[in-house]
Amino acid sequence: MKVLQVATEIFPLLKTGGLADVLGALPQALIALGADVRLVVPGLPAIADAVEKQELVCEFGPLFGAGRVMLRLGRMPRSRVPVYVVDAPYLYRRPGDPYRSADGAEWSDNFHRFAMLGWVAAHLAAGELDPRWVPDLMHAHDWHAGLACAYVAAHPGNRCATVFTVHNLAFQGLFPAEEFPALGLPRKHMGPRGLEFHNQVSFLKAGLHFAQRVTTVSPSYAREIATPEFGCGMEGVILERGADVSGILNGVDPEVWNPLTDAGLVANYSAKFLGGKTRCKVTLQAELGLKPDPLAPMFGLVSRLTQQKGLDLLLAVLPDLVRSGAQLALQGSGDTALEAAFLASAKEHPAQVAVRIGYDETFAHRLVAGSDVMLVPSRFEPCGLTQLYALRYGTLPLVRRVGGLADTVVDATDEALRSDTASGFCFDEATPQALKVALLRAIETFRHPTLWQQMMQHAMAQDFSWDGAARSYLALYAQIVQPGLRV
Ligand code: ADP
Ligand code: GLC
Repeated sequence: MKVLQVATEIFPLLKTGGLADVLGALPQALIALGADVRLVVPGLPAIADAVEKQELVCEFGPLFGAGRVMLRLGRMPRSRVPVYVVDAPYLYRRPGDPYRSADGAEWSDNFHRFAMLGWVAAHLAAGELDPRWVPDLMHAHDWHAGLACAYVAAHPGNRCATVFTVHNLAFQGLFPAEEFPALGLPRKHMGPRGLEFHNQVSFLKAGLHFAQRVTTVSPSYAREIATPEFGCGMEGVILERGADVSGILNGVDPEVWNPLTDAGLVANYSAKFLGGKTRCKVTLQAELGLKPDPLAPMFGLVSRLTQQKGLDLLLAVLPDLVRSGAQLALQGSGDTALEAAFLASAKEHPAQVAVRIGYDETFAHRLVAGSDVMLVPSRFEPCGLTQLYALRYGTLPLVRRVGGLADTVVDATDEALRSDTASGFCFDEATPQALKVALLRAIETFRHPTLWQQMMQHAMAQDFSWDGAARSYLALYAQIVQPGLRV
């Protein structure tokens, strides 16, 4: 089966969050199962300059403001996964974040930038841009790629099957309705049964409405987005799609996240030989200027600092954490008010709270390895990868019971501890009080080394593999590709 993956981020070339990790791993896992997979991505500098062995496939234009567009086919460094790069310098050759300019505002031409990605993906799917490789199925990710599904649906004779995966329903790709005609889609598509969302164009809705199947990155989030609490206004669209919506949990790339082989750690370790983890902790404390104390419970957090991640809750309970003698190591960037508040707390408690603002992939690994508990108190979490990485590193996640967090962490209740199934700590209400109770439970449990080690062993034995996720995607693909084309 030939599968075209459409996305904007891909690890290790360009990453703002977990989406990149997924696109860095899923194609390889599908290929390992026998699928013929290629990616199509915008030619942002971090991608266009790194993809190897690029060859021109075709040229076209003008389109969406770009005079001439070159479609090139190359290979991902290391993994060798084939990737089409949409080389449209006018739209893509600019530094920094893929979605925003340096001042934090969305690029003013995002409508054209991501319309281009959707258009190219759909025309590859139709066999018009590269007749030598015509996909049976196109799999588009998040709003950036959503329009591809509308273009496929609008193209008479395009028989490519379509799947759209929502990694985050809060990002909806909204643009003024007046821009719609520039897309060249039939006028009827600018209605409630199309791209229209409260008198705007939504690229997310293009994916949700026009893809044959919609998936999201955990079974719980698939259920949650059908409700007003988590649906971000799209719950009606989700409900309308009924059984076409399902959840497939993300996995962990063991090449990237493995405490036994992680080259960034001062000491490697495994469930059998845990000694290295203490060295990672002591080194992290020293690196961050925290009090060197292996017995102080170390809470870690690696995150975008946004409303989604529930970090205001953490700020509210930080005094309790400090009072208990625990420590916090935080790495993140985002909301300037949150950044300032955490920095202020670090200044106030330098021996117990360390905050690093910024993005640092290698340090994130050291932080996960050196912590005892990984905090993920999200208001909503489609899947969440940090808790999965933490489990693998024997760092027990403390999470709010939502979305993928609920699907991957087993709370240390008395019963779960007795049956050796506990892997972390969960709380329900998005309140400081509920977080505090979970935090104090974690600190109390940490005082019982045998119990803690038992939980670590169980956490590290969890198998969140991409192989399992890729099998689920292939089974879903097989439901909708034309008969005779299945692997
Ligand atoms: P989201 O995609 O919503 O940000 P995930 O948990 O799915 O959340 O994925 C986040 C990914 O980004 C993880 O790989 C995490 O380690 C990484 N990450 C987030 N913030 C930082 C940071 N400041 N430095 C390094 N890595 C980060
Ligand atoms: C989004 C979600 C996160 C998920 C990631 C990868 O960024 O916020 O929960 O893990 O996508 O699917």
